[in-house]
Amino acid sequence: MIKEAEYSTKLAEVRSYLNEKVNIQPELGIILGSGLGGFADLIEEKIAIPYREIPHFPVSTVEGHKGELVFGKVMGKYIVAMQGRFHYYEGYSMQEVTFPIRVMQVLGLNGLIVTNAAGGINASYRPGDLVLIKDHINFMGENPLRGENISSLGPRFPDLSEGYDLEWRQKALSVAQEIGIHPQEGIYAAMSGPSYETPAEIRFLRTVGADLVGMSTVPEVIIANQGGMRVLGISCVTNMAAGILPQRLSHAEVMETAERIEKQFIRFVQALVRVL
Ligand code: HPA
Repeated sequence: MIKEAEYSTKLAEVRSYLNEKVNIQPELGIILGSGLGGFADLIEEKIAIPYREIPHFPVSTVEGHKGELVFGKVMGKYIVAMQGRFHYYEGYSMQEVTFPIRVMQVLGLNGLIVTNAAGGINASYRPGDLVLIKDHINFMGENPLRGENISSLGPRFPDLSEGYDLEWRQKALSVAQEIGIHPQEGIYAAMSGPSYETPAEIRFLRTVGADLVGMSTVPEVIIANQGGMRVLGISCVTNMAAGILPQRLSHAEVMETAERIEKQFIRFVQALVRVL
């Protein structure tokens, strides 16, 4: 659980470490989910800092995730990208999972694009679809804001009625149309994982209104909102969720679909950076 003085000191230390390494002011943060790692290749004037070199940062362990904070320029705009995120299922606390978002907040970013791989629950989705997240349901059983509130970082009881910024979603839809991408829109349910859901859990999630299911994103989005950042969320449907199709789920399928869609996904995020 957070201790205010300790947490604020840690954040200040990371900020001064990063300010020494990087002399640009990024406007936008991007969390690169599974299969979007190639986005980092587009970043110009790149400064990549491995998580293990950043004071107080947790270190990423999952296969297919590189652990770097990448600063630089995309489409003429300064950004900072997380190449690899921290998942709750890896054993990190909610505070560790969301620490990089706090760092982005104290660096003065005004917005965040969050991406992930997700299972499709909505029967009109197909593996490979990109989905703009319009809302979420937190079934992780925890909230990253539980514990002492640091009032300098945000309110005790933050409003999440527009957790995924409406104006940004509208901009995303119109830029998608411009570049010939047709995203769906949907509600993301977050589970803690790491086991995939059971078919009964997926029927339950469908009944309560979820279109997608995944194991990330919600903690980061809660923190970004509390910290006053605008958020855009995009899922890549890498597989249909358990029990939707008469077949088993595999991490290999998730990675294969993510790879198949990567070029399109990168093109979309690149266009988003231009307009957001
Ligand atoms: N469930 C949970 N998380 C996921 C899935 C899924 O089916 N696919 C990719 N991430």
